Amino acid sequence: MKKYFRTEIEDTEIYQVPYRPGIKLDQNESPWDVPIELKVAITEKLIKADWNRYPLNEDYKPVLRKLAKEHNVLLEQFVLSNGTNSIVQALINMIPQNSKVLILDPSFSHYEKQILLQGRKLAKVPLSEDFELLPERTITAIKKEKPGLILIANPNSPTGTLFDKKSLYRIIQMANCPVIIDEAFYYFTAETALDWLNDFSNLVILRSFSRAAALAGVRFGYAITDSDMAQSIEKCLSPFRLSKITCLIIEEILDHPKYIQEHAQNIIKERGRLFSKLQTIDGVQVFPSEANFLLLRMDKAKEVTKKLVEEEKVIIRDVSNDTTLENCLRITIGTPAENDMLLMALKRVKNDLKEG
Ligand SMILES: Cc1ncc(COP(=O)(O)O)c(C=O)c1O
Repeated sequence: MKKYFRTEIEDTEIYQVPYRPGIKLDQNESPWDVPIELKVAITEKLIKADWNRYPLNEDYKPVLRKLAKEHNVLLEQFVLSNGTNSIVQALINMIPQNSKVLILDPSFSHYEKQILLQGRKLAKVPLSEDFELLPERTITAIKKEKPGLILIANPNSPTGTLFDKKSLYRIIQMANCPVIIDEAFYYFTAETALDWLNDFSNLVILRSFSRAAALAGVRFGYAITDSDMAQSIEKCLSPFRLSKITCLIIEEILDHPKYIQEHAQNIIKERGRLFSKLQTIDGVQVFPSEANFLLLRMDKAKEVTKKLVEEEKVIIRDVSNDTTLENCLRITIGTPAENDMLLMALKRVKNDLKEG
């Protein structure tokens, strides 16, 4: 296939999600599924839908109306999609061929992968040692690199850090390009750039239902932006990417706003408890997080992850690299019982490695 395609495609590995038995804390999902009563109510609606027809504009309207009401913005300001990743991909695709895409380092690994895969140039701006935004350095880099797109996850992934609001505002204000503020972890933090939509036509806010709504398996995310920007993005996404089935599921979920809020609160509560317990383990540095996961730094992080996954069957994610994320691993917040098992397993593994 090499002769047909760009070299970046040959150089990129397929994103694999293999089944591994154990406690699953490796993928930023919710540990709790959607309540059965909600699933039953949704299923009744799914049976009545005509599955033989493509979705019509009307099929998206109830979701759009409900989102517009919740966020107090116009219907035209939304772009709905099957997760937020596809919207990021579309925006990378939309900018002029030779433009750079500016990201922070470290940030969500999917960004860099997509930028390189689509043959765009990358400009990376480091965060501070404790993963804070460096506003002057970022602004200098924007002036120098003149990016065609800026991608910022807030809270950041895989660090969980929430960035300083004033600095973000300055970045959007001075950028001469679209700025994506990826709020995939909204609901686990109160911060949002939503109130700036009237100030900036280059701001694109992303939201995801994968975690707070426990719908990672359903695939639903959306952008809120200026209505002209929304139209441009819409042109670059494939039609019918949202099935009627997804729309009906989301419609029902949006009728239960308390469900999402309470679900997120339970995870926030567990995040606090797990954070405190991890802080008491010798040699473990745990970073404050406003997302549904915690980033940890410890000696021999790779070996710790391997032992946890293979011997203890606690599936966590090794996110370490040789630069900004040295000796780092990421743990998604599980149920209280799962988190207790993780804590015990981590202590055992650390003891084994000390003795070994
Ligand atoms: C910052 C960030 N954005 C987006 C996503 C993916 O969201 P979705 O499931 O809506 O595609 C992730 C997944 O971990 C993430 O970390």
